[in-house]
Amino acid sequence: MVDLIKKIKVLRSNFDEGVAQVEDKESLQELRNTYLSRKKGRITLLLKEMKNVSPEEKPEVGKKINEFKIHVQQKLDELDREIEKPKYKGSQIDLTLPGKQRYRGAPHPILKYKKRIEQIFLSMGFSIEDGPEIETDYYNFGALNFPPHHPARDDWDTLYLTDDLLLRTHTSPVQIRVMEKKKPPIRMINPGKVYRRETPDPTHIPMFYQVEGLVVDFGITFAHLKGTLEHFLKALYHEKIKIRFRPSYFPFTEPSAEVDIECTVCRGEESKCRVCGGGGWIEILGAGMVDPQVLKNVNIDPEKYSGFAFGMGIDRTAMFSFRIPDLRNFYENDLRFIRQFS
Ligand code: DAH
Repeated sequence: MVDLIKKIKVLRSNFDEGVAQVEDKESLQELRNTYLSRKKGRITLLLKEMKNVSPEEKPEVGKKINEFKIHVQQKLDELDREIEKPKYKGSQIDLTLPGKQRYRGAPHPILKYKKRIEQIFLSMGFSIEDGPEIETDYYNFGALNFPPHHPARDDWDTLYLTDDLLLRTHTSPVQIRVMEKKKPPIRMINPGKVYRRETPDPTHIPMFYQVEGLVVDFGITFAHLKGTLEHFLKALYHEKIKIRFRPSYFPFTEPSAEVDIECTVCRGEESKCRVCGGGGWIEILGAGMVDPQVLKNVNIDPEKYSGFAFGMGIDRTAMFSFRIPDLRNFYENDLRFIRQFS
């Protein structure tokens, strides 16, 4: 009897597998015949085997066969009704209907550009550092050698939160924070957001990204600064880009320079170019040798060590790379604009 009950179990699972494979009316009919045909159907054959079962066991085995038969009939009837529905009727699926389009997210163009800059400096052995966006007057100005009330502070249109707290106007305070924590050799960049009291226009926005760089070690010279920035700008733009260094002034570097690249839009060939104003050059970053006083402010001996630093606007640089005429495009989140970069 145990054998017969086992057999019913096996048949039941075979039948269930058969159900899953039914695709149309023909395969359904075939399944029906296999199990229910009067002469050779599997259930008929099972009933025939009843004669070998002892009289005491007959009721239980009979009951099991009956349950199986009801299961088979119910499933086949169900399929009979289902078979008319679209899942089974291939012809009812309209393959000409447009599909559902799914949009994939992508990093914002500025963040992608920031990553590119990070990769170039990582490949030169720089570390990536971080610093707070809310700063004290000391870190944003004082430690960087801006005397109190000095007119140089006016060049940075500062948003003050209290008399002493402000939204950092540049990433340069991170130089101070890193030098306070680490001893030379230092080779770091710090990309991050900065804030200025600006009315938005095509080339000004009140929040933008800068990347700060700082190298401090024995025997660092202006040649190291020049070589590093040239390598960086060629990797960022292209190998043949023209670069020039101009003397400039920053309170925290001596000597200081501003670095220009040739205009990416007109290459100096259009007198009315909207990007370079016809001059053929665009200013891309500020740089210089770290002022000895700045090193003293963080207890690094300027007789022993020297360093260079630079600061570049990321949004501005991206704007020239992608030849976008208006900085505000980056922050208006018009998907038609943003999607061009994904
Ligand atoms: N912090 C300056 C600015 O926002 C840029 C700058 C100039 C950074 C010279 C530097 C530097 O590190 O050496 O305009």
